[in-house]
This record gives sequence, C-alpha cells and structure tokens, in this order.
Amino acid sequence: MRSSRSLFFALCALPAVFSAPAEPTGLDDAMIAKVKANLRVIATHSWEIGTELETLTELEWPSLAVFEGTLPPPTTLKSGEAADVIDYAAAIVANITGDGPLIDGDGAVGDPASIGQARRIVLLAAANQLNYLLNVAPHTDDGAISHRAEQVQLWADFVYMAPPFIAYYGALQGGDEGLSLLKESYTQCKLYRKYLQDNGTLWRHITLGSWSDKNHWGTGNAWAAAGMLRVLETLARSEFSSSLTQEQVDLTSWVNEILTSVWALQQSNGTLLNYLDQPATSFGDTSSTALLAASSYRYATITGDLTHIPAANRAFDLIKASLTDDGWLLNTVDPESFSTPSPPGVYSPEGQSFVLLLHTAWRAFKAATSL
Ligand SMILES: *[C@@H]1O[C@H](CO)[C@@H](O)[C@H](O)[C@H]1NC(C)=O
Ligand SMILES: *[C@@H]1O[C@H](CO)[C@@H](O)[C@H](O)[C@H]1NC(C)=O
Ligand SMILES: *[C@@H]1O[C@H](CO)[C@@H](O)[C@H](O)[C@H]1NC(C)=O
Repeated sequence: MRSSRSLFFALCALPAVFSAPAEPTGLDDAMIAKVKANLRVIATHSWEIGTELETLTELEWPSLAVFEGTLPPPTTLKSGEAADVIDYAAAIVANITGDGPLIDGDGAVGDPASIGQARRIVLLAAANQLNYLLNVAPHTDDGAISHRAEQVQLWADFVYMAPPFIAYYGALQGGDEGLSLLKESYTQCKLYRKYLQDNGTLWRHITLGSWSDKNHWGTGNAWAAAGMLRVLETLARSEFSSSLTQEQVDLTSWVNEILTSVWALQQSNGTLLNYLDQPATSFGDTSSTALLAASSYRYATITGDLTHIPAANRAFDLIKASLTDDGWLLNTVDPESFSTPSPPGVYSPEGQSFVLLLHTAWRAFKAATSL
C-alpha cells in the first residue's frame, strides 16, 4: 500500500494543486503558540486531554505519530524529544489507581482510551485499558464496544477515541495477538458505521441505550472520519499491512463517504453546519469544519485523491477568519450540549485542538505535494 501511495504523488495531479486559486497558507508560529496555550487552559475532560495529547504529538513530534512516523516508533527518544507530551501524560498516568480506565471519563469508556496512545509512549503497557475495553465494557451482541459504561450506547465520538488506541497497541504488540487487535480496531469502525450511518452518507451522533441523538452532528462525523484515518494509517504502517489490504480499502472508502457527504453541504463562507443537513435551524460550527478539513488533507496525502482539497482550502480560510488575535476559535458548538453554540466568551477545547490538527494536516499535505 505504502509505496504505491507515494508513487501516486510522484506521478500525477500536481499541476492541479499548484494552479489552484486561493491556496491557503498555514498559521504562523505565534498564532500556533497562542492556540496551544489556550487549549491547555481549557482542556479538562478525558477526551479533551486525550485529543490534546494526540494533537501535540502530531504537531510537534510528527515522527512519533501514525500519519508521518514509523511503526514501531523509535525505542529510544532523543534528549528532550516529546518532553512536553511525556510530562503531561506522566502526570495523568500518576493519577491512575488500580485497574480499569485510565482516568475518569465522566462515565464514558471510549473517551479515556484517547489518552492511551500518548501513554503508550510513556509506559510499556496500557494493558488494563485494553482489557477494560475488550472484556469489561458493555458490548452489543455483535461486538460493538459501548461508548458508555452504564449501558450499551454507541456514539460516533468513540471512533476517534478507542479504535486508534486498539490498533496502535496491536501494531506495537506484533504476533498473532497484535494482528487480531488490528483487525478488532477495523471491526469496531465497521460496526459503528453499521449502527450509525444513514443512507450510505452521514453518520448519526448516538444510537441505542435509553436516549439517542439521530441528528447528523458535524463533530460526530468529524470524529468518525478522523478516527478511521488514524486506524487506516496504523494498519498501513504496521508489519501486517499486506495482510490487511481489504480493511484498508474499506476504511479509505468509509472516510471518503463522510467527506463527500459533508462537503456537499458546505456553506458559502466555507463553514459546515453543526447539524450538517439542517440549514433552517442549525448554525455554522467551526470545530467540525476544522477537523473535517484536517481529515480531507490527510485523506488526500494518503490516497493522492485531491477531490476534497478545494473544500478543505475554503474551510481553512474560514477557520483563519474565525480565530481571534488572542488565539481563540470563535463560532464553535458547545461540545457538551451538542446542539447550541458556545456562549459568548466560552471556547471549545476540541475546537482549539482541531485548529492545530488542521494546520498539521495541511503542512503534511503541502510537504507531500512539493516533492
Ligand atoms: C490528578 O488528580 C487530582 C485529584 O483528583 C486532580 O486535582 C489533578 O488535576 C489530577 N492531575 C492530572 C494531571 O490529571
Ligand atoms: C434516507 O433517504 C430517504 C430517501 O432519499 C429519505 O426519505 C430519508 O429521509 C433519508 N433518511 C435519513 C435519516 O437521512
Ligand atoms: C460563516 O457563516 C456562518 C453562518 O452559516 C456564520 O455564523 C459565521 O459567522 C460566518 N463566519 C465568518 C467568519 O464569516
């Protein structure tokens, strides 16, 4: 998979990129520093900190993250390498007592797993977390791991939190168990798509359990696309890549399904709506717009398919126009209500991360297309 992908870039499609109008430029270092400092201040929940650790790894230490790094990662780190991520992850690890999930996820079993990948750099094993997901957390009859601890309930958010961790763990583990974990990460994506996707297009937010959210939530679709890309890259860079080709084809197609569906609903100023297909009642949401644009740059870098780049470029321009001089992202959804904008003066921890993931994905795309 890997070599044919790189070859694709060497051979074709470059003139279209270079002649594209209004190609965005990245964020400058001063803005990145402000967005990052603000993120640290407001990220407090497990999924926010897990996403922050993944974001910092991709932004600052790309050779240790799945999109641009190697698997397995280097066994020793250079002096100071990833020190900020490791120190922060170590402080969180120090808070763990006993078995079970890494940190309190407010009742969510998927969310604490999002911290697992950074922790893996710190510790040799995240076996408790894995055991909890596979053997303790509630499952559907066909094996989808519940996002919630107290009942079987599936949230699109889960796809960013748990399958990438399961896949990464499997890639490091190697052997039969490693291969089966890589397959399990794929199976979870497949099952979540089966339960949450409507009409071959957008994903619902939440299904099963005592209540549901049938809306096509921008951030839910973004979590799903971005999570499946991390699983895809982990499979592709693992020693088992050639045994998992159909899985990679499927994941690529499932990401493309989401990207195709969301950008068909892009608004004239480049934003997506919080409930993607409800123009009469919903509002522009920069958080989901940023992560879906990031996913589009990653998708293009991986596949060589540039279809979504014009939409991603419009979205990146919108995101830059939505940042204050102080590095706060405006016009985000309130990530805990799902359905209302963040109140004035309140900002979104995931939105801050998604801005950095967008810049990072854009940077990798530029590097790949300037070879
Ligand atoms: C560790 O736990 C304490 C007490 O619950 C909490 O105040 C602190 O923020 C936690 N530290 C980290 C890094 O999670
Ligand atoms: C699925 O498509 C059908 C036919 O186009 C439409 O009536 C229905 O509302 C769609 N369902 C959802 C959940 O989008
Ligand atoms: C983009 O449009 C949305 C409405 O669709 C609006 O809420 C938002 O303020 C606009 N953003 C910018 C930067 O113009």
